[in-house]
Amino acid sequence: MSDSMIKFASGEYVPLEMHKVRVVQKLNLLPIEERLKAVEGAGFNTFLLQNKDVFLDMLTDSGTNAMSDQQTAAMMVADDAYAGSSSYTKLYEAVVEVFGTKYFLPVHQGRAAEHIISQVFVKKDQTVPMNYHFTTTKAHIELAGGKVSELFTDDALTIKSNVPFKGNIDINKLRALIKAKGKEQVPYIRMEAGTNLIGGQPFSIQNMRDVRKVADENGILIVLDVSLACENIYFNKIREEEFKNTPVKDILLTMCGLADIIYFSGRKISCTRGGGIATNNHALYMAMRDLVPLFEGFLTYGGMSVREIEAMAVGLRESVDMNVISHSPQFIKYLVERLDAKGIPVVTPAGGLGCHLDAKGFLSHVPQLQYPAGALAGALYIISGIRGMERGTISMDRDAQGNDVPSEVELLRLALPRRVFTLSQIKYVEDRVTWLYENRKLVGGLKFVDEPKVLRFFVGRLAPTSDWTNTLVAKFKNDFGTSL
Ligand code: F0G
Repeated sequence: MSDSMIKFASGEYVPLEMHKVRVVQKLNLLPIEERLKAVEGAGFNTFLLQNKDVFLDMLTDSGTNAMSDQQTAAMMVADDAYAGSSSYTKLYEAVVEVFGTKYFLPVHQGRAAEHIISQVFVKKDQTVPMNYHFTTTKAHIELAGGKVSELFTDDALTIKSNVPFKGNIDINKLRALIKAKGKEQVPYIRMEAGTNLIGGQPFSIQNMRDVRKVADENGILIVLDVSLACENIYFNKIREEEFKNTPVKDILLTMCGLADIIYFSGRKISCTRGGGIATNNHALYMAMRDLVPLFEGFLTYGGMSVREIEAMAVGLRESVDMNVISHSPQFIKYLVERLDAKGIPVVTPAGGLGCHLDAKGFLSHVPQLQYPAGALAGALYIISGIRGMERGTISMDRDAQGNDVPSEVELLRLALPRRVFTLSQIKYVEDRVTWLYENRKLVGGLKFVDEPKVLRFFVGRLAPTSDWTNTLVAKFKNDFGTSL
């Protein structure tokens, strides 16, 4: 059961929850008129919506994965101490067990790890090759004066695909880049497990071995972002022949063993908050260590509360339980395959993290500089109360000349935090996305009315380019005969 869905008598494979619900949170489904007002008030930016106005919060899995009873229980026995807390010792032991690394630096969340790593290793004008960037990663490398070079394989950005490991680095491109720049100009190679921005797509362990070989030939470090590693190892187990009988915890150890430094967002991997950096190399640890008390907090808490630290220790161990990590990928597969069967443009094969709608295909009549993924996010919220996240051109900042940078992929991410949604809620998502697709011509574009310079997607405000929202609301009420 644990690595595949359950087979029903009808022959259909259905995801089955390997947990039961013991604490719940009430949800509100506002009438469509109020949803329209809410999204207008939020400047058509789903980050600026109030959660009370959201029905299904599919913005992210970051900090919204459901914690287990064991995690919440652990929080009650936390050892409050600025230095030398026994809660920290428990976390350290969990890190050694799960990642196989001897040295650990706690930080307040994933981007804090990126800050420290890039400040220590990236020098002006150096290039960091990677399978694909993440927003905060790129911003921190650029803040340190460096550049990002994405060396994904040619098929990584193909929306409809059956390539199992779209998160792989193209090894030939990697060799060519190192040759062109010179190895001294490449401080490290970054691999991101469960490549977030291209649709939660995994890389193969074989690819990571190949990257290691190139790194060794050139004396370059590998930094591995394991924030989404559990989704990646789920796919290594079910898609990579060599690992089909390997326990996922051993796949993770193999993956981490191929890197020099690993880091993570605890908001993702351990269903908690916080984050960390780990390595087996004492010199690398020493190079980073002193920045932790400066930016994060003392070495035994790194900006986290002791309660979070306790929950993280338990959460990291649970994150290598196949029953825990299979929930999201199986629900995602269920949703993606149903939408795909109806011809709705969605990233395939289904990855981790969420269902990614291809806004360029969905709203092909909306020009890319009118932000189709942002418009789709606004439209879906209006007609359903579902909050997704724009992962397209709005998520790219302007270039040095002030020009918009059209994103290679224009996605609306509908995240599936672990163990949060039920199958009927997923069926609701399928239904409303399908209705919106049938009525897609009613959706128009967006323009910025307030635009920050860095990471503009977080707090920037937009407005519709025409009066399309009212037409959409009227059509919805007409079709459903209700405002819900
Ligand atoms: N790396 C990856 C792969 C991530 O997905 C994230 C965050 C980070 C680093 C940064 O970690 O948020 O703890 O500072 N991803 C969130 C998301 C924000 O919604 O996908 P953080």
